[in-house]
Amino acid sequence: MSPLHVVILAAGQGSRMNSALPKVLHSVAGRPMLHHVIGTARQLGAEKIHTVIGHGGDKVRETTTESLVNWVVQEQQLGTGHAVAQALPHLPDDARVLILYGDVPLTRADTLNAMVESLDDSTLGLLTVTLDDPQGYGRIVRDADGKVTSIVEQKDASTEQLAIREVNTGILAVAAKHLKTWLPALSNANAQGEYYLTDIIAMAVEHDLEILVSQPEDPFEVQGVNNRLQLAELERWFQKREAERLMTEGATLADPARIDVRGELTIGNDVLIDVNVVFIGKVTLGSHVSIGPGCVITDATIADGAQIYAHSVIDQASVGPNAQVGPFARLRPGTQLAANTKVGNFVETKKTIVGEGSKINHLSYVGDATLGTDVNVGAGTITCNYDGANKYQTVLGDGVFVGSNSSLVAPVTVAAGATIGAGSTITKDVPEQQLAVARGHQRNISGWQKPEKH
Ligand code: UD1
Ligand code: CA
Repeated sequence: MSPLHVVILAAGQGSRMNSALPKVLHSVAGRPMLHHVIGTARQLGAEKIHTVIGHGGDKVRETTTESLVNWVVQEQQLGTGHAVAQALPHLPDDARVLILYGDVPLTRADTLNAMVESLDDSTLGLLTVTLDDPQGYGRIVRDADGKVTSIVEQKDASTEQLAIREVNTGILAVAAKHLKTWLPALSNANAQGEYYLTDIIAMAVEHDLEILVSQPEDPFEVQGVNNRLQLAELERWFQKREAERLMTEGATLADPARIDVRGELTIGNDVLIDVNVVFIGKVTLGSHVSIGPGCVITDATIADGAQIYAHSVIDQASVGPNAQVGPFARLRPGTQLAANTKVGNFVETKKTIVGEGSKINHLSYVGDATLGTDVNVGAGTITCNYDGANKYQTVLGDGVFVGSNSSLVAPVTVAAGATIGAGSTITKDVPEQQLAVARGHQRNISGWQKPEKH
């Protein structure tokens, strides 16, 4: 089959976003709209993805290093036909070409695949949608036999044509060799003085091509974004679909309308997800995992049976089987919790390995540390890992018990089985099984006269 080349139009300014950011870089599900479209093009097996940029083009370019993308600059935005024409020199004569839009992010690959699969030199694939309110869109004009004859833009349409509810999504597929003949022949003698891509439909009909019309399963697939209201609508639709997928795959969601997946979330069976949880990047949840309300989980792996309680923040960390985290815990990058560990409320960890069965239950900061198995870190323990210039390691051996409100001044090693007395400031290594106490001695002063108010 002839190679597939995708052309993505992304040169428009998007003035109705009222934004310094080029429109196609606004995100749906945590990812710029254009990246969704590039991802879809890749999924379709495109040989090359010609992306037409103009307004804010340099900013757009910087956001991806995708090797399939060929950037094509359209200096002046003279219309959709003119935009596609800029890509013509890059299209092989034998290519099939699919036209997509940087601001129409959520078209399913299946929908597009159906269009390009059946395409040959004698056909043109056109994606249309029937809307209750066709206002603003190009109308699909059909003859008495129901055959498509042309597309007429809103501003050029007669009253009769304005009543047509079948509209152009803008997405079409056709052989490159036809585009090379037709696009240079476009005229801009129309209401907007633009070179309309849509005029090639009448040209195709004139050249006896068959127009193969298809429609998406859901109109949201072809919904473009012109302002932030439409952006939010697409976001909600995307999240609804994600929620449905997760429920189908074995998650119970406390409220399918209150989950946000901004990346790739993989789950096992019998996962429970409470309200207002945000997943970012690549997250994997094992079976029987439960996530409490208000958690934010980024690039993390949570193993089978782990419980993450309310309002915990987990970033680039792994949580072992049956571990318990939170409420209000913060696992920062490089945290690795082994099986049956506990990290409780108001505990922050960073670059820390916590061995099986170990606990840091309350109000602690543990950074640049390695904990063996069955370690108990008391409330208010701080690893003093930073001297203002460099970071140092704290090592706690198997079975170490750290009394509450202790400071562990790194680098420091507390060997297996040792105990730290509460309130200690530990600056020297502690040998195995010993008790280290490093705090002022208590004096009780009798006959103490309390101060009186003046
Ligand atoms: C276009 C279609 C219309 C269709 C509608 C669907 C034409 C003439 N009309 O109209 O039939 O119903 O989309 O949304 O094609 N762009 C460029 N360079 C340009 C002009 C546009 O890159 O010179 C890009 C824009 O950034 C935008 C897309 O092409 O992403 C569509 O352009 P726009 O001007 O919004 O076309 P519409 O008037 O909406
Ligand atoms: Ca538009």
